[in-house]
Amino acid sequence: MSLESCRTVKLPCLKDPRGSLVFLEGNRDIVPFDIKRVYYLFNVPTGGVRGGHAHRNLKQILIAVSGSFDVVLDDGRERKSVTLSHGTEGLMITSMVWRELENFSPSAVCLVLASEHYDEADYFRDYREFKNEVLRRQVG
Ligand code: TYD
Repeated sequence: MSLESCRTVKLPCLKDPRGSLVFLEGNRDIVPFDIKRVYYLFNVPTGGVRGGHAHRNLKQILIAVSGSFDVVLDDGRERKSVTLSHGTEGLMITSMVWRELENFSPSAVCLVLASEHYDEADYFRDYREFKNEVLRRQVG
């Protein structure tokens, strides 16, 4: 269920001779949550890996506004890898999904729209703890 809802969506883009413009608003079709936080990753060294965690509640949309990178997603049952390489594409990551970001190109910038303020208590940073919670929720 979790991985099925992690999919890429085409972002609205206005192109004209002056260049291109992508716009996103919270609580509309593309971003189905209030945008409470925005952050971005850049200057990731060759071979660098980011992420390595899951969230209890947080939902995010990732956009490669420049360059490219891979996002490996794991809901505790299955895994899939998504390559982001275009600023007109957003990847929704729902709660309870382990993610690892890798293969960053030198110019890559990963923009993140987040549904919650930063809260360390929302993180699973240990994969086994995450997996145990997935199993606990399955049983319960
Ligand atoms: P983390 O979420 O682990 O980064 P990534 O998933 O990109 O590898 O965060 C790295 C550090 O930055 C960690 O100490 C928490 C801090 N941080 C904040 O203080 N606020 C934020 O909004 C984010 C995303 C991270």
